[in-house]
Amino acid sequence: MNKLTLDDLQVKGKRVLVRVDYNVPLKDGRITDDSRIVASLPTLTRLLDAGARVVLMSHLGRPKGAPDPQYSLEPVAKRLAGLLGREIRFVDDCVGSAAVEASRKLGEGQVLLLENLRFHEGEEANDPEFSQQLASLGDVYVNDAFGAAHRAHASTVGVTEYVSPAAAGLLMERELTYLGKALKSPKSPFVAILGGAKISGKIDVITHLLDKVDRILIGGGMTYTFYTAQGIAIGDSLVEADRVDMAAEVLQAAEKADVDLVLPEDSLISTAADGSEPAKVSSGTAIPDGYMGVDIGPATVERFRAKLADAETVVWNGPLGIFAVPAFA
Ligand code: 3PG
Repeated sequence: MNKLTLDDLQVKGKRVLVRVDYNVPLKDGRITDDSRIVASLPTLTRLLDAGARVVLMSHLGRPKGAPDPQYSLEPVAKRLAGLLGREIRFVDDCVGSAAVEASRKLGEGQVLLLENLRFHEGEEANDPEFSQQLASLGDVYVNDAFGAAHRAHASTVGVTEYVSPAAAGLLMERELTYLGKALKSPKSPFVAILGGAKISGKIDVITHLLDKVDRILIGGGMTYTFYTAQGIAIGDSLVEADRVDMAAEVLQAAEKADVDLVLPEDSLISTAADGSEPAKVSSGTAIPDGYMGVDIGPATVERFRAKLADAETVVWNGPLGIFAVPAFA
C-alpha cells in the first residue's frame, strides 16, 4: 500500500490527531449502534499503548455549519470511555483556544474528543484556515475514518497540508488493503453488493465497479430510487427524487457493460421506520401507499443467495435495510 501506516510513526509523547468516523445513529440522544466506535478501538489502543496523546475528531450528522445540540459528540465520548475503560476528555468546540489548551494538557495515554467538526462551515468547505486550526492540535495526523474518506473536507484532506507525517490508521489500512486486492485482481465471478440510502453517495463506486464485476446486487434505501426510475410504486419509501435519472442511467450502463444488476423482488415493509409498527412482506416489488421499504424481503434473500453461491470475490458496501432497528436487522 502506497500510504504511510501506524508502523511508520513515532508517537511516544506526541499529540496524535486522529480523524475517526463517529457518525453513529442516535435516538433521543442515545447511541443505537456503536459499531463505528468499536471499529476505531484497535487504532486507539495501539496509539495509547505506544504512549501517544490522542486527539480525536469526527463529524456527526449534517448540522449546517453551526452548533446544533442534537448533533453533539458528547454521548460518543461517554460510550468511548466505557469501551476503552479510560477517561475521555471532551471540549465543546473542535478549534479555538480551549481545544488547543486541552490538547497541550494531555498526558501520554490520554484521550481528548473534540466537538463535531461540522459545527463549523470550514470543515465541509475544506477551508485552509480551518484546516490549519485543526492541524495545530496535533504533531502527527492519522486518518482512520474510512467511512468519510470520500469527502474532501478540512479534517480529511486540508489538514494534511499543515501537519506531517500523515498516515492511515488500522481500520483505513485494512479496508484499503482488502479493497485494493479485490479490485486489482478479482477472481470471478465477482459480485458487488451495494446498499445504503443514497445513490448520490455511491455513484462513483457503482460506475467504477461496472467494468469489473459480473453482478451487482442492490438493496437498502437506494432500491426505491431505482424502482422510481422503473415506474414501480414505492409508497412512503426513501427516494432521492433528484437522482431518478441517475438511477436510470446506471441501469442502462449495467446493461451495456453486460453486468447482471439485480434489484430486490420483494421488501420488508412497515408504516414506521423505527420498528414501532409491525412489518410485513410486500407482494412483489410495488410498495403500497402508507408503507415504506425497511429491508429486503425473503424472496430477495433467496435470489441474492443464489447469485452469491458461486462467487469467488464479493465486495459489500452499505446496509440492505434499516439494520440499526432490531426488527429490520
Ligand atoms: C457516512 O455515514 O456515510 C459517513 O460518515 C459520511 O457521512 P456524510 O455522508 O454525511 O458525509
